[in-house]
Amino acid sequence: MTYKIAVLSGDGIGPEIIKQAVGVLTGLGLPLEITEAKVGGAAYDAYGHPLPSTTMEIVENAHAVLFGAVGDWKYDTLARELRPEQAILGLRKSLGLFANLRPAILYPELVNASPLKPEIVCGLDILIVRELTGDIYFGQPRGERIADGTFKGEREGYDTMHYAESEVRRIAKVGFEAARKRNKKLCSVDKANVLHTSQFWREIVTDVSKSYPDVRFSHMYVDNAAMQLVRAPREFDVIITGNLFGDILSDEAAMLTGSIGMLPSASLNDKRKGLYEPSHGSAPNMAGKDVANPLATILSAAMMLRYSLNLPAQADRIENAVRQVLKNGIRTADILGGDTSTTLVGTEEMGNAVLKALV
Ligand code: IPM
Ligand code: MG
Repeated sequence: MTYKIAVLSGDGIGPEIIKQAVGVLTGLGLPLEITEAKVGGAAYDAYGHPLPSTTMEIVENAHAVLFGAVGDWKYDTLARELRPEQAILGLRKSLGLFANLRPAILYPELVNASPLKPEIVCGLDILIVRELTGDIYFGQPRGERIADGTFKGEREGYDTMHYAESEVRRIAKVGFEAARKRNKKLCSVDKANVLHTSQFWREIVTDVSKSYPDVRFSHMYVDNAAMQLVRAPREFDVIITGNLFGDILSDEAAMLTGSIGMLPSASLNDKRKGLYEPSHGSAPNMAGKDVANPLATILSAAMMLRYSLNLPAQADRIENAVRQVLKNGIRTADILGGDTSTTLVGTEEMGNAVLKALV
């Protein structure tokens, strides 16, 4: 069988980091059929739309999607529906990628790159399971209108937060199943002291938890979770949360690992088709300078092998190679920390180092 992979490198540092991930994937010697397509600002420039139908066709035909990053300041003045970010939101929605897995692992070699003290982060290994196709990100109605009530007559912007029961159930199941394969601990994060949507979320997650008596289960308000993530992050194993809270908490968790340049992600639908992307953005200020860290993208490719292509041994090969490269002291600028015994390399050299470390 041939594994069909759609490669969407996008904008900013996207093409550079994707090139390294594709290089590593190719180095595994698997029967891969890689098709590239434009997305984000690059697609807008070429076709007048951030997610053109030609790209969607390639994505629909693929077993999995490897995605770089989208966005650049030069598109900031475009209408919202034409902005590069709409491409990633559109892909998530149209492929039904409701389950976003964002593992935050602190590699022992990078303990000095983390802004937190070693005694707080050493050994960190948490998994954020973020719901990705619902919540205030997609809720209708939304837009601009003339206000009623206290600010009657003024213009106002508004969005709608909501979660349907089946949406909460399916993401909760993904979280509990993941917890079962890890340290059997799950914390559901919400804002149930204020939001109806969160009260409902809590009720449904609690019901799902009854099918997983072997998993230690707790709830936490999102403001407290933000605090606990820097106070005692190792108390967490799996966190499940909604789309908006997950967006914020996963950036916070990323920093615990030393750099957002280390954090991969998988976005899965119910058929395990997935989109794999680094959790960081397109960093246009770094683009073309060969300084970006390609490891989050390379590790995303490993997640693709594990979750969508069912090739866990091949995923291990990539993850072990990354570990080996870090052990060898190879560092991009973002993970240099205060360590003087290491070697600073660029994007390309980092990719090559991982490729060479494959066994
Ligand atoms: C992320 C990003 C996206 C999000 C943006 C680019 C739309 O921040 O994947 O976390 O908010 O989901
Ligand atoms: Mg984000």
